[in-house]
Amino acid sequence: MMVEFGVVAHGGVGTEEALSDGCKAACGAAFRMLEDDKCALDAVTEACRILEDDGRFNAGSGSVLRIDGKTIEMDAAVMDSEKAVGAVINIRNVKNPVLVAREVTKTPHVGLAGRGAEAFAEKIGAEPFPGVSEKALQRFHKTMSLFRAGKIGEINPLWKDADKIFFDGISFDTVGAVALDRKGSFAVATSTGGACPMMVGRVGDTPMIGCGFYAGPAGAVAVTGIGEEIVRKMFARAVYDVIENEGDVEAAGSRGIGLFDPGIAAGLIVISKKGFAVSANRSMARHVMMREV
Ligand code: GLY
Repeated sequence: MMVEFGVVAHGGVGTEEALSDGCKAACGAAFRMLEDDKCALDAVTEACRILEDDGRFNAGSGSVLRIDGKTIEMDAAVMDSEKAVGAVINIRNVKNPVLVAREVTKTPHVGLAGRGAEAFAEKIGAEPFPGVSEKALQRFHKTMSLFRAGKIGEINPLWKDADKIFFDGISFDTVGAVALDRKGSFAVATSTGGACPMMVGRVGDTPMIGCGFYAGPAGAVAVTGIGEEIVRKMFARAVYDVIENEGDVEAAGSRGIGLFDPGIAAGLIVISKKGFAVSANRSMARHVMMREV
């Protein structure tokens, strides 16, 4: 198989596959842009924007609350094989962090955090956050009751048993999209409300280059899972290295997931000119649209 252009989207490791209709809507919009000769970077940004607005995923308007029960801080990033990189870290009060990350690529910087990112968002006219969703509040209260009952483990840097909450469907993860456009450029976009539970100010893998995302001349990779584990393995870059060195996209997918103990939730999507891979050690909403040469 050789890909002329295509897009893959996921709704986060731990999400039910029944939510794949959200990924299908995101892929459909991105695919139409690719058909119209739009670049991969804009297509993945639009796919992630749609997933942020869906409300069922942990990103944008579906973002989970921090441990104080009132703060929403989000991370997002975009990158393409033409050297564009932009990320926002711990941004508050915006509806679509991925759109702000896309605008960061037009500045001299690759990342903006906290108040600076929010000031930038205001300057570019980004829409404000619509308010905490009912689902996010429910997830928060359920998580905290497990936490108080001692079922999420002792407080420690890795929230030792936090993985169990994925099984209860309480904490969803990152959304992401990867694409190849007609001109041969690859791009990736990721967005998240973070993990659950998490401290105010905590940053995971999603806005960190080579950890939550990577794109280069060999392909594009978006990953999902527990940020603290992903960062330690520089997961996205490790997957990219397999495509770059061996040209084998399926091996990149299976070997990537093999980096994690089965107790650690992890997932990835990857695209190259030879095809795509979707791999996860939990259920994961996803969709793929490809035009073959
Ligand atoms: N993978 C999302 C996070 O840990 O923040």
